Amino acid sequence: MRQVIDELPGSKIREVANAALGRGDVLAFWFGESDEPTPEFIREAATRSIVDGETFYSHNLGLPELREALSRYVSSLHPSVGADRIAVTSSGVSALMLTMQALAGAGDEVVAVVPVWPNLTAQPAILGAHVVRHPLQFHGGRWKLELDALKTRVTDRTRVLLVNSPNNPTGWTLGRDEQRALLAHCRATGTWIVADEVYERIHFDAAVPCAPSFLDIAEPDDRLVVVHSFSKSFLMTGWRLGWIVHPPALGPAFAKLIEFNTSCAPVFVQRAALAALAGADAFVPGLVDRLKGCRDTLLPRLAAMPGVTCAVPAGGLYAFFAIEGQDDSLALAKRLVVESGLGLAPGVAFGPEGEGWLRWCFASRDPARLVDGADRLRRFLHL
Ligand SMILES: Cc1ncc(COP(=O)(O)O)c(C=O)c1O
Repeated sequence: MRQVIDELPGSKIREVANAALGRGDVLAFWFGESDEPTPEFIREAATRSIVDGETFYSHNLGLPELREALSRYVSSLHPSVGADRIAVTSSGVSALMLTMQALAGAGDEVVAVVPVWPNLTAQPAILGAHVVRHPLQFHGGRWKLELDALKTRVTDRTRVLLVNSPNNPTGWTLGRDEQRALLAHCRATGTWIVADEVYERIHFDAAVPCAPSFLDIAEPDDRLVVVHSFSKSFLMTGWRLGWIVHPPALGPAFAKLIEFNTSCAPVFVQRAALAALAGADAFVPGLVDRLKGCRDTLLPRLAAMPGVTCAVPAGGLYAFFAIEGQDDSLALAKRLVVESGLGLAPGVAFGPEGEGWLRWCFASRDPARLVDGADRLRRFLHL
């Protein structure tokens, strides 16, 4: 076994979930998904495809019609992106891994803005790259990127800058000026930007259809790879489908890498994705509205608890909050499960910068579950 694999930490969220085994009364908010199933019109498209016998291998880069539909979808939100810049992948996490395989090898330096979903930093480590962590700072009730410090960290030795915005777990969202500054800096150092924008549509500013994207300001040939997923905006976590937007020259490299990783995404899942994109305008804004309702149900309840600190997330599915005097998030998350039947993710699962915090996924079909969860937390804290 390679040492780096031996040393990979296990999932701390799973560790908390395991503490709930045998209990039927736990309200679980630990994973990054809603309890609402995928919309029926999407499920039906997959069923039809299976009934029609679409059960064979397919193109490495995805069905041509899906790449065309993604090109139209992405271009409806951002400046035009051709189908030649799109690779369909078997999940967002696979898209991230393929991107890392393409860009960062043993000994390369990868700078990551953290805390962040742990898969992003584990992947370059698995490939033997050296990960440098750049922590967001929590000041005055909000998460902030210290841009000058990040620019000092990203040098001409840095192969990749990894940024996830809207961010899991903090909800922090990169601003346009910060994006411009990072793009200019990375152009100067020759660094690739890998932008994880899987939550771009889950953005609560009603004036715009999505969070600021690097695609809005970059040229097609910039060293930029943007990673997306069907999981969050279309409630398709279990389907495992994502896509990559890359510079045109990288298409053949991604085709090879997909061949050697998964060969292709299942055709019936891609048919479901085609239905999802066709129904996006009718479905996504309503989902985002409901998620905003969830956020606005939970956040004021957390904020009203003495000793609780929380930034209002601009996007994403999560409330990330700290409780005064509680600095061991894993122990606290386990106690919450055992003593109160409340399932949250420990902040330390997102790196040492998340220690002392808890992540609550507020995507819930029934906001009453959030009210019940908040009551359980209040009772646990004897408030
Ligand atoms: C920041 C971030 N990126 C990527 C993903 C991957 O999504 P999926 O593999 O379900 O497409 C997730 C899932 O939680 C995530 O939080």
